[in-house]
Amino acid sequence: MRLSLVLASALAGTISTSLVEAANATQKAALASLPLALSPDPEFNFQLLISLGSLPYAAGDILAAAAVLVQNSFYSFNTTFAVLANATYAAAEKAAVPNPVNARNTYFAASNYYRSADFFLHGNWSDPLIFEYWTGQTLAFNKAIASLPVPGRRITLPADGFETVGTYFAVDNSTTKRRTLVIIQGYDAAQEDSYMQMGASAIQRGWNVLTIEGPGQPTVRRYQGLGFIPDYEKVLVPAVNWLANRTDIDMSKLALAGISMGGYLAARAAAYEPRIKALVLDDGVWDVQASIESGFPTELLQIYAAGNQTEFDAIIDDAIVNNASASSSARWGIDQGLWAFKTHSTYNLLQQAAAYKVQNITHLLNIPILVGNAVDDTDFPGQAMEVYHQLVSQNKNVTLHNFTGPASYHCQAGDFETANRAMLGWLETAF
Ligand SMILES: *[C@@H]1O[C@H](CO)[C@@H](O)[C@H](O)[C@H]1NC(C)=O
Ligand SMILES: *[C@@H]1O[C@H](CO)[C@@H](O)[C@H](O)[C@H]1NC(C)=O
Ligand SMILES: *[C@@H]1O[C@H](CO)[C@@H](O)[C@H](O)[C@H]1NC(C)=O
Ligand SMILES: *[C@@H]1O[C@H](CO)[C@@H](O)[C@H](O)[C@H]1NC(C)=O
Ligand SMILES: *[C@@H]1O[C@H](CO)[C@@H](O)[C@H](O)[C@H]1NC(C)=O
Ligand SMILES: *[C@@H]1O[C@H](CO)[C@@H](O)[C@H](O)[C@H]1NC(C)=O
Ligand SMILES: *[C@@H]1O[C@H](CO)[C@@H](O)[C@H](O)[C@H]1NC(C)=O
Ligand SMILES: *[C@@H]1O[C@H](CO)[C@@H](O)[C@H](O)[C@H]1NC(C)=O
Ligand SMILES: *[C@@H]1O[C@H](CO)[C@@H](O)[C@H](O)[C@H]1NC(C)=O
Ligand SMILES: *[C@@H]1O[C@H](CO)[C@@H](O)[C@H](O)[C@H]1NC(C)=O
Ligand SMILES: *[C@@H]1O[C@H](CO)[C@@H](O)[C@H](O)[C@H]1NC(C)=O
Repeated sequence: MRLSLVLASALAGTISTSLVEAANATQKAALASLPLALSPDPEFNFQLLISLGSLPYAAGDILAAAAVLVQNSFYSFNTTFAVLANATYAAAEKAAVPNPVNARNTYFAASNYYRSADFFLHGNWSDPLIFEYWTGQTLAFNKAIASLPVPGRRITLPADGFETVGTYFAVDNSTTKRRTLVIIQGYDAAQEDSYMQMGASAIQRGWNVLTIEGPGQPTVRRYQGLGFIPDYEKVLVPAVNWLANRTDIDMSKLALAGISMGGYLAARAAAYEPRIKALVLDDGVWDVQASIESGFPTELLQIYAAGNQTEFDAIIDDAIVNNASASSSARWGIDQGLWAFKTHSTYNLLQQAAAYKVQNITHLLNIPILVGNAVDDTDFPGQAMEVYHQLVSQNKNVTLHNFTGPASYHCQAGDFETANRAMLGWLETAF
């Protein structure tokens, strides 16, 4: 495990393929254990990798958290990260005067930890910590982006019955028109995660970046009280209007990236927003309902198909929602879905999720498309290849990128730099 840890941090995913080829049997076994298991709880492990991959200089905190987490205990997760978040925020405040760059990086880390503290709490909508931790993450992030060489700017835009929220990061203060990347997340992550995972890398490579959130996503779910909508162009179009009205955007080089379930949302939005000129789906998402259903046994799906909502929900509530022994993955998956789609019924969640399919919209996509395929993705297993094959069969201009080795988890958790090299490298070729 420690060997693979050293290797994983030293090597980016596709490069390490050469290492696999050169390895002896012992080394092959160690490499085969990638991506890393930092925790025996698979869901906690995934979140730890997300955190670890976001901020190289915070790796020690994440390893310490991994050492003290108690498998299956959401309480241990939020408590561990709340302690880390407060301590890190306090350190940032102390660092501000002598060293502004230390302070900025420390605020970014604190913001990440407040989001981690929040992550497993959505099973109880009345828990005031859902708002308290978010206040902490927002404050820390605002302080961090205020001290960037070009400060990030929060925006709120009137949309169709709600407000699109976003954060704009320019390459510089000039009016030079530049290529611009809009980034959206999916089932759970925040626009702050978009900046950490991909946005900062894009800015380094000369892209202006706009991160946005709509209904169901963290800020809009909390402060506007709205669950997910499938027609995500309603979120995107006001953001593109806002960009079109600026002087520093090259509208002929406007790209959209969708991360995680954002792979569905971005495909849908780009299909109905012709001003998007290139599209990254990471990973490709074919059918959100199928993804949720894949966790359920056949007998349960038969009850769903028979339309008995009362019986279906009672079974899920007993087996998962109100069952502290159920796996973190199962409990978090349902808790988060109910919260984000704003329903207390898993039956209703599945009904809503039926609208989140790309089968009938890919024919509308007439721009270069990159489909990311994390070969060990357990959230949307096999779905990226379904998206890719349909786009090929429709003669679309599509490129497939397989993520393997340390990058083979959903969204390349633990290895965002590899993902960014692939996605941002491809975007260079798209225009
Ligand atoms: C594999 O290589 C490592 C050094 O990297 C060495 O310590 C180990 O003994 C080798 N194992 C085998 C089975 O050759
Ligand atoms: C973790 O969450 C639980 C449930 O909301 C709460 O009782 C506890 O105080 C939280 N821990 C910390 C340190 O905030
Ligand atoms: C974190 O700081 C907040 C605000 O000072 C405080 O209310 C909360 O109890 C602290 N939590 C922990 C775990 O120290
Ligand atoms: C949800 O949180 C509220 C506020 O902390 C608390 O009063 C209530 O007991 C919690 N409900 C459950 C089921 O834990
Ligand atoms: C850009 O402008 C902001 C004020 O709007 C200023 O704080 C910042 O230092 C400027 N950055 C650069 C690189 O000129
Ligand atoms: C466009 O920009 C101008 C000048 O900044 C502003 O007054 C106007 O409200 C903007 N319009 C839209 C649709 O954003
Ligand atoms: C739904 O299932 C429950 C429990 O098995 C049963 O009592 C009820 O009659 C069923 N309702 C319908 C409409 O089939
Ligand atoms: C709770 O979850 C555990 C682990 O999956 C399972 O063995 C148990 O049967 C569940 N309890 C109920 C009431 O379904
Ligand atoms: C796609 O359209 C066909 C024909 O209208 C319809 O039968 C099918 O249910 C649709 N599929 C999805 C996934 O929306
Ligand atoms: C990509 O991975 C899929 C399995 O997820 C495999 O079927 C396909 O052949 C791979 N494509 C390439 C080009 O390696
Ligand atoms: C297809 O997409 C690639 C980027 O992957 C781009 O370089 C090429 O110009 C596109 N071809 C057409 C015909 O649009």
